[in-house]
Amino acid sequence: MKSFTERVLFPNVSINPKKLANAISGKTIVITGASYGIGEELALLFSGYNAHLILVARTQQKLQAVADTVMQNGSACTIISADLYLENEVDRVIEILKALPGGIDIFISNAGKSITRSLGDSLDRYHDFTRTNALNYLAPVKLLLAATPLLKAANGKIINVSAINVLLLPAPKWAAYQASKTAFDQWFRSNAAEWKIMGVRIATIYLPLVRTRMMAPNKNYKNYPAMQPEQAALRIAKLLYSTRSYTKPWWTVFPQTGSFFGRYVWEKISFLYLKR
Ligand SMILES: NC(=O)c1ccc[n+]([C@@H]2O[C@H](COP(=O)([O-])OP(=O)(O)OC[C@H]3O[C@@H](n4cnc5c(N)ncnc54)[C@H](OP(=O)(O)O)[C@@H]3O)[C@@H](O)[C@H]2O)c1
Repeated sequence: MKSFTERVLFPNVSINPKKLANAISGKTIVITGASYGIGEELALLFSGYNAHLILVARTQQKLQAVADTVMQNGSACTIISADLYLENEVDRVIEILKALPGGIDIFISNAGKSITRSLGDSLDRYHDFTRTNALNYLAPVKLLLAATPLLKAANGKIINVSAINVLLLPAPKWAAYQASKTAFDQWFRSNAAEWKIMGVRIATIYLPLVRTRMMAPNKNYKNYPAMQPEQAALRIAKLLYSTRSYTKPWWTVFPQTGSFFGRYVWEKISFLYLKR
Protein backbone atom coordinates (compact mmCIF):
# COMPACT_ATOMS: atom_id res chain seq x y z
CA MET A 1 0.00 0.00 0.00
CA LYS A 2 1.53 3.30 -1.11
CA SER A 3 1.64 6.18 1.35
CA PHE A 4 0.36 9.63 0.36
CA THR A 5 3.98 10.85 0.00
CA GLU A 6 4.81 7.93 -2.28
CA ARG A 7 1.77 8.65 -4.44
CA VAL A 8 2.97 12.24 -4.88
CA LEU A 9 6.67 11.44 -5.36
CA PHE A 10 6.20 8.35 -7.52
CA PRO A 11 2.86 8.66 -9.33
CA ASN A 12 1.71 5.47 -11.04
CA VAL A 13 2.53 5.22 -14.72
CA SER A 14 0.94 2.82 -17.18
CA ILE A 15 2.20 1.56 -20.49
CA ASN A 16 0.67 1.52 -23.94
CA PRO A 17 0.50 -2.25 -24.61
CA LYS A 18 0.35 -1.76 -28.39
CA LYS A 19 3.47 0.42 -28.44
CA LEU A 20 5.30 -1.97 -26.13
CA ALA A 21 4.30 -4.92 -28.31
CA ASN A 22 5.70 -3.08 -31.37
CA ALA A 23 8.92 -2.46 -29.49
CA ILE A 24 9.54 -5.93 -28.07
CA SER A 25 7.44 -8.67 -29.70
CA GLY A 26 9.66 -11.19 -31.45
CA LYS A 27 12.77 -9.43 -30.09
CA THR A 28 15.68 -10.87 -28.13
CA ILE A 29 16.13 -8.93 -24.91
CA VAL A 30 19.06 -9.31 -22.50
CA ILE A 31 18.32 -8.32 -18.90
CA THR A 32 21.19 -8.44 -16.44
CA GLY A 33 20.24 -8.81 -12.79
CA ALA A 34 16.98 -10.55 -13.69
CA SER A 35 16.70 -12.87 -10.69
CA TYR A 36 15.33 -10.33 -8.21
CA GLY A 37 13.94 -6.84 -7.90
CA ILE A 38 13.58 -4.58 -10.91
CA GLY A 39 15.12 -7.09 -13.35
CA GLU A 40 12.70 -9.80 -12.28
CA GLU A 41 9.76 -7.39 -12.67
CA LEU A 42 10.97 -6.51 -16.17
CA ALA A 43 11.18 -10.17 -17.15
CA LEU A 44 7.63 -10.79 -15.89
CA LEU A 45 6.32 -7.66 -17.62
CA PHE A 46 7.92 -8.57 -20.98
CA SER A 47 6.92 -12.23 -20.75
CA GLY A 48 3.42 -11.52 -22.09
CA TYR A 49 4.78 -10.04 -25.34
CA ASN A 50 6.20 -13.05 -27.14
CA ALA A 51 9.83 -12.05 -26.78
CA HIS A 52 13.00 -14.09 -26.22
CA LEU A 53 14.39 -13.10 -22.83
CA ILE A 54 18.01 -13.73 -21.90
CA LEU A 55 18.19 -13.49 -18.12
CA VAL A 56 21.56 -13.04 -16.42
CA ALA A 57 22.34 -13.21 -12.66
CA ARG A 58 24.12 -15.44 -10.13
CA THR A 59 21.26 -17.30 -8.44
CA GLN A 60 20.50 -20.18 -10.80
CA GLN A 61 17.44 -21.48 -8.93
CA LYS A 62 15.79 -18.08 -8.79
CA LEU A 63 16.59 -17.42 -12.45
CA GLN A 64 14.99 -20.76 -13.31
CA ALA A 65 11.85 -19.87 -11.34
CA VAL A 66 11.58 -16.55 -13.21
CA ALA A 67 12.21 -18.35 -16.52
CA ASP A 68 9.44 -20.90 -15.77
CA THR A 69 6.93 -18.08 -15.33
CA VAL A 70 8.20 -16.28 -18.43
CA MET A 71 7.71 -19.43 -20.52
CA GLN A 72 4.26 -20.11 -19.01
CA ASN A 73 3.33 -16.60 -20.15
CA GLY A 74 4.31 -17.42 -23.73
CA SER A 75 7.82 -16.01 -24.21
CA ALA A 76 11.03 -17.92 -24.83
CA CYS A 77 13.69 -17.70 -22.15
CA THR A 78 17.39 -18.49 -21.78
CA ILE A 79 19.07 -18.17 -18.42
CA ILE A 80 22.75 -17.48 -17.87
CA SER A 81 23.95 -17.98 -14.35
CA ALA A 82 27.11 -15.91 -13.98
CA ASP A 83 28.89 -13.81 -11.40
CA LEU A 84 29.58 -10.52 -13.12
CA TYR A 85 32.15 -9.56 -10.46
CA LEU A 86 34.48 -11.95 -12.27
CA GLU A 87 35.92 -11.01 -15.65
CA ASN A 88 36.13 -14.62 -16.84
CA GLU A 89 32.42 -15.01 -16.09
CA VAL A 90 31.67 -11.84 -18.05
CA ASP A 91 33.65 -13.36 -20.94
CA ARG A 92 31.57 -16.54 -20.70
CA VAL A 93 28.35 -14.50 -20.90
CA ILE A 94 29.74 -12.70 -23.96
CA GLU A 95 30.48 -16.01 -25.72
CA ILE A 96 26.90 -17.16 -25.10
CA LEU A 97 25.45 -13.86 -26.36
CA LYS A 98 27.61 -13.93 -29.50
CA ALA A 99 26.43 -17.46 -30.26
CA LEU A 100 22.72 -16.57 -30.14
CA PRO A 101 21.33 -17.39 -33.59
CA GLY A 102 19.04 -14.35 -33.69
CA GLY A 103 21.50 -11.80 -32.26
CA ILE A 104 20.37 -9.22 -29.69
CA ASP A 105 17.78 -6.47 -30.13
CA ILE A 106 17.63 -4.91 -26.68
CA PHE A 107 20.14 -4.85 -23.82
CA ILE A 108 19.01 -3.76 -20.36
CA SER A 109 21.99 -3.14 -18.09
CA ASN A 110 20.39 -3.57 -14.69
CA ALA A 111 22.54 -5.82 -12.46
CA GLY A 112 23.97 -3.73 -9.67
CA LYS A 113 25.27 -3.63 -6.15
CA SER A 114 24.65 -0.87 -3.65
CA ILE A 115 26.85 -0.13 -0.69
CA THR A 116 26.80 2.53 2.04
CA ARG A 117 29.88 2.68 4.25
CA SER A 118 31.83 5.50 5.88
CA LEU A 119 35.45 6.21 5.00
CA GLY A 120 36.43 5.21 8.55
CA ASP A 121 34.78 1.79 8.13
CA SER A 122 36.33 1.32 4.66
CA LEU A 123 40.00 1.63 5.55
CA ASP A 124 40.66 -2.11 5.25
CA ARG A 125 37.90 -2.74 2.68
CA TYR A 126 39.46 -1.84 -0.68
CA HIS A 127 37.54 -4.81 -2.08
CA ASP A 128 34.28 -2.86 -1.60
CA PHE A 129 35.52 -0.52 -4.32
CA THR A 130 36.92 -3.12 -6.70
CA ARG A 131 33.77 -5.26 -6.46
CA THR A 132 31.32 -2.37 -6.81
CA ASN A 133 33.30 -1.05 -9.75
CA ALA A 134 33.51 -4.50 -11.32
CA LEU A 135 29.74 -4.99 -11.27
CA ASN A 136 28.37 -1.45 -11.72
CA TYR A 137 30.96 -0.17 -14.20
CA LEU A 138 33.42 -2.60 -15.77
CA ALA A 139 31.11 -5.59 -16.39
CA PRO A 140 28.47 -3.56 -18.28
CA VAL A 141 31.25 -1.80 -20.24
CA LYS A 142 32.71 -5.14 -21.33
CA LEU A 143 29.30 -6.63 -22.11
CA LEU A 144 28.26 -3.60 -24.17
CA LEU A 145 31.55 -3.43 -26.08
CA ALA A 146 30.86 -7.00 -27.18
CA ALA A 147 27.14 -6.44 -27.76
CA THR A 148 27.50 -3.24 -29.81
CA PRO A 149 28.07 -4.99 -33.19
CA LEU A 150 25.04 -7.22 -32.49
CA LEU A 151 22.89 -4.24 -31.49
CA LYS A 152 24.09 -2.31 -34.55
CA ALA A 153 23.02 -5.16 -36.81
CA ALA A 154 19.57 -5.10 -35.18
CA ASN A 155 19.13 -1.30 -34.92
CA GLY A 156 18.78 -2.11 -31.28
CA LYS A 157 18.33 -0.28 -28.01
CA ILE A 158 20.27 -0.15 -24.72
CA ILE A 159 18.83 0.87 -21.38
CA ASN A 160 21.03 1.88 -18.45
CA VAL A 161 19.35 1.38 -15.07
CA SER A 162 20.99 4.12 -13.06
CA ALA A 163 20.35 6.08 -9.87
CA ILE A 164 19.43 9.71 -9.23
CA ASN A 165 22.54 9.91 -7.00
CA VAL A 166 24.69 10.30 -10.12
CA LEU A 167 22.87 13.56 -10.97
CA LEU A 168 23.47 15.07 -7.53
CA LEU A 169 26.34 16.17 -5.30
CA PRO A 170 28.18 13.23 -3.72
CA ALA A 171 26.74 12.15 -0.37
CA PRO A 172 28.81 10.96 2.59
CA LYS A 173 29.15 7.15 2.89
CA TRP A 174 28.07 6.56 -0.73
CA ALA A 175 31.55 6.80 -2.30
CA ALA A 176 31.77 3.28 -3.77
CA TYR A 177 28.23 3.16 -5.18
CA GLN A 178 28.08 6.73 -6.43
CA ALA A 179 31.54 6.62 -8.06
CA SER A 180 30.80 3.34 -9.89
CA LYS A 181 27.32 4.34 -11.08
CA THR A 182 28.62 7.76 -12.17
CA ALA A 183 31.55 6.17 -14.02
CA PHE A 184 29.18 3.98 -16.01
CA ASP A 185 26.77 6.85 -16.67
CA GLN A 186 29.63 8.97 -18.03
CA TRP A 187 30.91 6.13 -20.21
CA PHE A 188 27.41 5.44 -21.47
CA ARG A 189 26.62 9.06 -22.31
CA SER A 190 30.04 9.61 -23.89
CA ASN A 191 29.16 6.97 -26.47
CA ALA A 192 25.63 8.25 -27.18
CA ALA A 193 26.44 10.02 -30.45
CA GLU A 194 28.49 7.12 -31.84
CA TRP A 195 25.76 4.63 -30.99
CA LYS A 196 23.22 6.92 -32.66
CA ILE A 197 25.29 6.98 -35.86
CA MET A 198 25.32 3.16 -35.75
CA GLY A 199 21.52 3.14 -35.42
CA VAL A 200 21.59 2.01 -31.79
CA ARG A 201 19.30 4.02 -29.49
CA ILE A 202 20.07 4.43 -25.81
CA ALA A 203 18.20 5.63 -22.74
CA THR A 204 18.85 5.91 -19.02
CA ILE A 205 16.51 5.68 -16.08
CA TYR A 206 17.68 7.56 -12.99
CA LEU A 207 15.89 5.79 -10.18
CA PRO A 208 15.13 6.99 -6.67
CA LEU A 209 14.94 4.53 -3.78
CA VAL A 210 13.10 1.42 -5.01
CA ARG A 211 11.58 -1.10 -2.61
CA THR A 212 13.74 -4.13 -3.44
CA ARG A 213 16.11 -6.25 -1.39
CA MET A 214 18.84 -3.71 -2.26
CA MET A 215 17.27 -1.43 0.39
CA ALA A 216 17.19 -4.14 3.04
CA PRO A 217 20.65 -3.71 4.66
CA ASN A 218 19.81 -0.13 5.67
CA LYS A 219 17.10 -0.42 8.34
CA ASN A 220 16.32 3.33 8.17
CA TYR A 221 15.09 2.94 4.59
CA LYS A 222 12.11 0.87 5.74
CA ASN A 223 10.24 4.06 6.58
CA TYR A 224 11.51 6.17 3.67
CA PRO A 225 9.25 6.77 0.68
CA ALA A 226 10.27 4.44 -2.15
CA MET A 227 9.10 3.46 -5.62
CA GLN A 228 7.62 -0.01 -6.14
CA PRO A 229 9.76 -2.26 -8.41
CA GLU A 230 6.74 -2.86 -10.71
CA GLN A 231 6.56 0.90 -11.27
CA ALA A 232 10.30 1.06 -12.01
CA ALA A 233 9.80 -1.73 -14.58
CA LEU A 234 6.91 0.13 -16.24
CA ARG A 235 9.02 3.27 -16.53
CA ILE A 236 11.82 1.25 -18.17
CA ALA A 237 9.32 -0.38 -20.54
CA LYS A 238 8.09 3.08 -21.61
CA LEU A 239 11.67 4.03 -22.52
CA LEU A 240 11.69 1.16 -25.02
CA TYR A 241 9.05 2.81 -27.22
CA SER A 242 9.68 6.45 -26.43
CA THR A 243 12.23 8.75 -28.06
CA ARG A 244 13.35 10.09 -24.67
CA SER A 245 17.00 9.53 -23.81
CA TYR A 246 16.38 9.53 -20.05
CA THR A 247 13.76 9.60 -17.38
CA LYS A 248 13.99 10.65 -13.74
CA PRO A 249 11.48 11.47 -10.97
CA TRP A 250 9.72 14.82 -11.56
CA TRP A 251 11.08 16.30 -8.33
CA THR A 252 14.77 15.61 -9.17
CA VAL A 253 14.89 19.17 -10.50
CA PHE A 254 14.96 20.51 -6.91
CA PRO A 255 18.00 18.59 -5.60
CA GLN A 256 19.67 19.07 -9.01
CA THR A 257 19.24 22.83 -8.71
CA GLY A 258 20.58 22.61 -5.16
CA SER A 259 23.52 20.56 -6.44
CA PHE A 260 24.31 23.19 -9.08
CA PHE A 261 24.29 26.19 -6.76
CA GLY A 262 24.82 24.71 -3.33
CA ARG A 263 28.13 22.84 -3.19
CA TYR A 264 29.48 24.93 -0.31
CA VAL A 265 26.26 24.63 1.70
CA TRP A 266 26.02 20.88 1.03
CA GLU A 267 29.60 20.30 2.17
CA LYS A 268 28.89 22.28 5.35
CA ILE A 269 25.67 20.32 6.03
CA SER A 270 27.47 16.98 5.43
CA PHE A 271 30.22 18.00 7.85
CA LEU A 272 27.79 19.12 10.58
CA TYR A 273 25.65 15.99 10.09
CA LEU A 274 28.60 13.60 10.49
CA LYS A 275 30.13 15.57 13.37
CA ARG A 276 26.96 15.60 15.51
N1 LIG B 1 16.67 -0.45 -5.22
C1 LIG B 1 17.05 0.82 -5.27
O1 LIG B 1 16.78 1.62 -4.32
C2 LIG B 1 17.74 1.36 -6.48
C3 LIG B 1 17.87 2.76 -6.61
C4 LIG B 1 18.53 3.28 -7.71
C5 LIG B 1 19.05 2.43 -8.68
N2 LIG B 1 18.92 1.08 -8.53
C6 LIG B 1 19.54 0.22 -9.54
O2 LIG B 1 18.60 -0.72 -10.01
C7 LIG B 1 19.29 -1.89 -10.45
C8 LIG B 1 18.57 -3.13 -9.93
O3 LIG B 1 18.60 -3.12 -8.53
P1 LIG B 1 17.45 -3.77 -7.62
O4 LIG B 1 16.93 -2.69 -6.75
O5 LIG B 1 16.50 -4.54 -8.45
O6 LIG B 1 18.33 -4.72 -6.70
P2 LIG B 1 18.23 -6.26 -6.36
O7 LIG B 1 16.82 -6.62 -6.05
O8 LIG B 1 19.26 -6.50 -5.33
O9 LIG B 1 18.64 -6.96 -7.71
C9 LIG B 1 19.96 -6.89 -8.20
C10 LIG B 1 20.11 -7.87 -9.33
O10 LIG B 1 21.49 -7.86 -9.73
C11 LIG B 1 21.99 -9.20 -9.67
N3 LIG B 1 23.39 -9.22 -9.26
C12 LIG B 1 23.93 -8.74 -8.11
N4 LIG B 1 25.23 -9.02 -8.05
C13 LIG B 1 25.53 -9.72 -9.18
C14 LIG B 1 26.71 -10.31 -9.68
N5 LIG B 1 27.87 -10.25 -9.02
N6 LIG B 1 26.66 -10.94 -10.89
C15 LIG B 1 25.49 -11.04 -11.56
N7 LIG B 1 24.34 -10.50 -11.14
C16 LIG B 1 24.36 -9.85 -9.96
C17 LIG B 1 21.13 -9.88 -8.59
O11 LIG B 1 21.07 -11.29 -8.79
P3 LIG B 1 21.94 -12.39 -8.00
O12 LIG B 1 22.03 -11.96 -6.58
O13 LIG B 1 21.14 -13.63 -8.24
O14 LIG B 1 23.24 -12.40 -8.71
C18 LIG B 1 19.77 -9.28 -8.88
O15 LIG B 1 19.12 -9.98 -9.91
C19 LIG B 1 20.74 -1.74 -9.96
O16 LIG B 1 21.57 -1.37 -11.03
C20 LIG B 1 20.67 -0.61 -8.96
O17 LIG B 1 21.88 0.11 -8.87
C21 LIG B 1 18.28 0.53 -7.47
